[in-house]
Amino acid sequence: MVHTLTQSITAFLSKQYSTHDLFVQWTVPDGLSHGHLSTPSALRFAKEVGVSPKEIAQMMCDVLQGVPCVERSEVAGPGFVNVWLTPEALLAQLEDVLPVLQPQKTRDEDPVIVEYSQPNIAKPLGIHHIMSTIIGQSIANLYQYLGYNTIRVNHFGDWGTQFGKLAVALERWGEKPVKDCSIDELLALYVRFHDELENDPTLHDAARDTFRRLEEGDQQLRAFWKDVVAVTMDALNRLYERLHVSIEHPHGESMYEDMMAPILEEGLRKGVFTKGEKGAVVIEFPEEMKLPTAVVQKGDSATIYMTRDFAQIRYRIDRWHPHAMYYVVDHAQSLHFQQLFTAVKMLGWELPHLEHIAFGRMRFREKSMSTRKGNILKLEEVLDEAHARAKRIIEERGDAVQTDDPEALAEMMGVGSVIYGVLSQNRKQDVTFDWGSFLSFDGNSAPYVQYTYARSRSVLRKGKWNGEHVLSNVSTADLSETEHLLLKVLMQFPHILEEARSSHMPHILTNYLFELCQRFNAFYNSDPILQSPPPLKGRRLLLTSFVSQILKTGGELLCLRFPESM
Ligand code: ARG
Repeated sequence: MVHTLTQSITAFLSKQYSTHDLFVQWTVPDGLSHGHLSTPSALRFAKEVGVSPKEIAQMMCDVLQGVPCVERSEVAGPGFVNVWLTPEALLAQLEDVLPVLQPQKTRDEDPVIVEYSQPNIAKPLGIHHIMSTIIGQSIANLYQYLGYNTIRVNHFGDWGTQFGKLAVALERWGEKPVKDCSIDELLALYVRFHDELENDPTLHDAARDTFRRLEEGDQQLRAFWKDVVAVTMDALNRLYERLHVSIEHPHGESMYEDMMAPILEEGLRKGVFTKGEKGAVVIEFPEEMKLPTAVVQKGDSATIYMTRDFAQIRYRIDRWHPHAMYYVVDHAQSLHFQQLFTAVKMLGWELPHLEHIAFGRMRFREKSMSTRKGNILKLEEVLDEAHARAKRIIEERGDAVQTDDPEALAEMMGVGSVIYGVLSQNRKQDVTFDWGSFLSFDGNSAPYVQYTYARSRSVLRKGKWNGEHVLSNVSTADLSETEHLLLKVLMQFPHILEEARSSHMPHILTNYLFELCQRFNAFYNSDPILQSPPPLKGRRLLLTSFVSQILKTGGELLCLRFPESM
């Protein structure tokens, strides 16, 4: 329908001014006083053709007046055009929402690869790991849902000198085989290594040497390494499950072991890599790039993080022939990715679109969380605490919360509140961890969205809603103001999904869900649904059903889960 509006405008203006290059941009203004849709395009176009903006806007307005779905239109300010649609047209908008209430069929095209989570093996996940993990999962979900051929990959740090350190620590201070160690015990060994290093600098060489032997294929060390990976994966998978995260290709850096030598050789042959100090292999970037020299391989010929990133790119291109590769990794690695992406261009590889999806740091509202003794604030502990806090809230609220399964609800709410709390903030900025707002029942939070969903389900149950979205004979009579406002939000859903996907900004979707909840609750509080006469009741149940489906669909894309009552 927006298309119809655009077309009538462009048809008219292009005839009037014999131009073909017309673009009409539509926005959805807040409230109703500026219409259902508004366009600023007259301003730009007026400049192009040298006519006053108001005059162009007036012409646009006159044209729109003749379009059947338009109730009225007006010129506002210096040349904006505001448009009100007829109730029929507004309701018909829901036709465009229907198809996106289900996952789009995957299109037969080159895939997009989303790499995320990427924890380092042998350490428990810290709370900050939730960032890449759920931002990445949500972005991958959006791609998948919208019909993109989507490949989700991990890039575990399961290779590198830390294994040398751990092996040395285990040999000196370990009390049992790795297999029987918990991940916390592994961490303790690792920490001890660093503590002892202060008094005994030879440990450093011992670790380096051990890692070199591991790389060279030492059988015993390989077995040790395998066990460490297994212990970590176990713990990791339990956490992924709680977060509703699933990464179909759980690749680790070790996988690229044999793929690095040919690339090093290629780089040297092409003159992109050069021998630096002490036999290291480096890349010097052209001056205009203003990038510092990057090390590709160390002097002792051990490979490093960077080496494995070359291999990872080569491997993924060869295996999947993607059209884009996204890396969801913290801001701190921006330089690394700039160097990497520049270097692979210099190698002359035929590349897909490469993009680092960066995010900010996590900060804590509560001092006790940021100034904690010990090493890391573990993600598992935070999720457990979230669960416990949610449970307390459920108990305190007593009858105000209805549930048959308080444990399951506490998990949904608690874990959901942390996920949503993170995703609802602009990823490009620092993210604040704040129990108060995360668990709030009436703010931009998981509990609020879940509660609203449960409320909508309860209305539908009581109204014996048949679940069918038949739009053809919905009554358009007496559309109330709150219904108007609700419809306006509902019809934006397809655009919001597209916007959140293309900008890789999950908070666009959370903001939308929050607004939808507010609009629905306003409607619920002011308009009788179940008590209204049949034609109105039918329409209001239909609107409620759209709300309910959109909340669930949108929320699940963001790794949330929803209770049927609450
Ligand atoms: N494991 C790395 C870290 O913890 C992040 C990996 C990011 N991905 C990549 N392809 N470099 O810093």
